[in-house]
Formats: sequence, structure tokens, C-alpha cells
Amino acid sequence: DELYAQGQTGHQPPYPMTFAELEERASAAMRPKVWDYVAGGAGDEHTQRANCEAFTHWGLYPRMLVAPAERDMSIELFGTRLPSPVFMAPIGVIGVCAQDEHGDLACARASARTHVPFFAATLSADPMEDVAAALGDTPGFFQLYTPPDRDLAASLVHRAEAVGFKGIAVTLDTWVTGWRPRDLRASNYPQVPSGCLSNYTSDPVFRRGLRPGEDATEAFVRRLPIFGGPFRWDDLDWLRSQTELPLMLKGICHPEDVRRAKDHGADAVYCSNHGGRQANGGLPALECLPGVVEAADGLPVLFDSGVRSGADVVKALALGATAVGIGRPYAYALAVGGVDGVVHVLRSILAEADLIMAVDGYPTLKDLTPEALRRVGGRV
Ligand code: FNR
Repeated sequence: DELYAQGQTGHQPPYPMTFAELEERASAAMRPKVWDYVAGGAGDEHTQRANCEAFTHWGLYPRMLVAPAERDMSIELFGTRLPSPVFMAPIGVIGVCAQDEHGDLACARASARTHVPFFAATLSADPMEDVAAALGDTPGFFQLYTPPDRDLAASLVHRAEAVGFKGIAVTLDTWVTGWRPRDLRASNYPQVPSGCLSNYTSDPVFRRGLRPGEDATEAFVRRLPIFGGPFRWDDLDWLRSQTELPLMLKGICHPEDVRRAKDHGADAVYCSNHGGRQANGGLPALECLPGVVEAADGLPVLFDSGVRSGADVVKALALGATAVGIGRPYAYALAVGGVDGVVHVLRSILAEADLIMAVDGYPTLKDLTPEALRRVGGRV
């Protein structure tokens, strides 16, 4: 309503109104290496594209004569009421997208303004204590790359508890870096960007291991694999024993892994293929979602990979996701318009989702079930 009303007075929105335009503006705003890092994916990026295309194979049935007075998109997750079923997926090294490199703080501020929950990344330019403070009352979560040094891993987890994050997403699909030709070509790897290590450099356990006069980045390279290294089910049992915070397992796509996740005490599964950044040739994440939801059997299911619009959000919710994560769109928005840009993109996605639910006659999230969708041969 706000944008339509402004249009009456000749006002043009300063930020893109479609994903295609956002992508174009972001590619011009970012340095080429940064663009390669953010926009790129694994192999020839077929899985990355398929993530987005998968949404076009589902269409929503419109239902009429059900207009409600009020619409409510809030959800409950781990006993906390979240104002929206949309969240900001964790993006490591997002500082490179921001003008002043404090991208993590900028995103936290956008989260506070929109009440769209933020997943703070381990690989962050700003320590989690500052990120959590910038979130204000909006619930935040912590994404963990689990370092093999268990004292350090425990320290990160306990800090996440202390700052009031509502849960930890343990990323499982990135214990080694994927085959990313754009980054390989641009020599973006194996460099460790020093501006993303603040959760380590601010950590007392990490600092204890510094040699006299040693630079923190050098120490990181000497001591730790960037994404944490191998992580197995028994490591998960150890992590489970370290915290009462809800644990979400990020990267789970196979129903059998969902069942194992439940056996190992996970509080949620997070169906994602990392936006196609890790392994080319994989199934689009949306294709995996119904099987994950069925195996989860009531356990919350978070979802991301390929979500570009409010329509995509509605489809993922109808397929059973409890909450839906936005990835690249908000990184692009940060590069294009800083905090205001991220606020604009998040609000636009939410507004479109809300309008589609209204127009198509699904007034509440409970009304959005797989019966709202039909699989189509072509593309919608
Ligand atoms: C990511 N993602 C990610 N995930 C994670 O658990 N830890 C991380 O550090 C990162 N880092 C990261 C960097 C960049 C530049 C991107 C684009 C993504 C994956 C992210 O959480 C999410 O799974 C994907 O972004 C979802 O796919 P789309 O929406 O970007 O296609």
C-alpha cells in the first residue's frame, strides 16, 4: 500500500522491485571478485540455477471469497514467536558486500527494522556480541562452523548462548570448500579474508593459543580449517552435550538423514544445498523439501536455496517448511543500498508473500498446505 500510495505522487522506489533488476544493480555495485564470491556456485552452477527453476514447476490454486479482516504471518519456533516465517540465512564474509565492511552489523540492523530474524555467521566481520546487540528485540540465531578444537567450539557455542541467540544452525555441507570455478579463477581461495575472523579473534580460547606477536589471521590459517573440517554424527553428539540451545542441522536433504538427526537430538532440520555453492549436480533443494518434511514428522523444517520472491516463500511454506530463508537477495541488496537496501528487499518479499496469500485465499499459514499447490508440466 505504501509503495502504491507513493507512486500516486510520482515517487519512484530507489531500490529494485524485481530480482532480475536487483541482480543487475548488484553486479555493477560489487567488485568483480566479490561478485564472483557471492553470485557464484559449484561447477557450471546447474544446481544453483535448478534451485530457482524448481519453484516454477509448482503453481498455486487461487481460492475465492475467503478474504479475512486480519492476516497473520507469525510463527512459533522453539517456543519463541517469530514475527515472520522468513529469515535471513547465514552468509559468511558478508562484510565484503558492504561499503564499510561492517556488513554483519548492517544486516543485523535491517533485521531489527523489519523483524525478519537474522542468522549470524561464524565467519563474520563483527563479533557475535555486537551483532546480537544490533538485533534489539528481534530474535537472532547463530550459524556454527564447528572448529575441530573442541574448547574453541564450546566457547563459540557458550558465547552464542550468553548473547541470547535462540538457536544454533550447525552447517554440515561445507566442511570442505566446494568446487567453485569462479572463485578458483578469481583466486578467491584459498585466501582467508582477514575481515571475517572477528568471532575467532575476539574469542578467549582462540587468543590463548596465539604465539607471541602472532597475527590472528596467520594463527587461524595455522590452526583451523576455514569451515571447521570434518564433522560426523558422534561430533554432533558431543555438540549436543554442550548446549541446551536448540540445534538446527543445516544441509539435511535426505529423509534418512532427517531420521538420524532426530535420533541424535536435533531440534530442527534445515533443508538447504547452500544455494548450489557446494556440490553441482545435486537435486534442487525444493525437490528435497517434501521428503524432508514427511520424515521430520512434526520436527520444524527450515528451508533455503533459490528463494527469490514472495511467491517462492509461499510455495516453500505450502510444501511444509516452517520458515524460509533468503540468501543472495539480501547480500545483493546490501551492496546496492546498505541497510536501507536490505530493509527494502526483505519488506518487498514479505509484502508479496502476504499479498499472494490474500489474493489466492490462504489467509493464514495453516491454510497453506500441499493441496494449495499443483505440480505443472511447464513453468509458472
Ligand atoms: C552462503 N551460505 C552460507 N551458509 C552457512 O551456513 N554459512 C556460511 O558462512 C555461508 N556463507 C555464504 C556466503 C555466500 C556469499 C552465500 C551466497 C551463501 C549459504 C546460505 O546460508 C544459504 O544456504 C544460501 O545462500 C541459500 O541460497 P540462495 O538463496 O542464495 O540461492
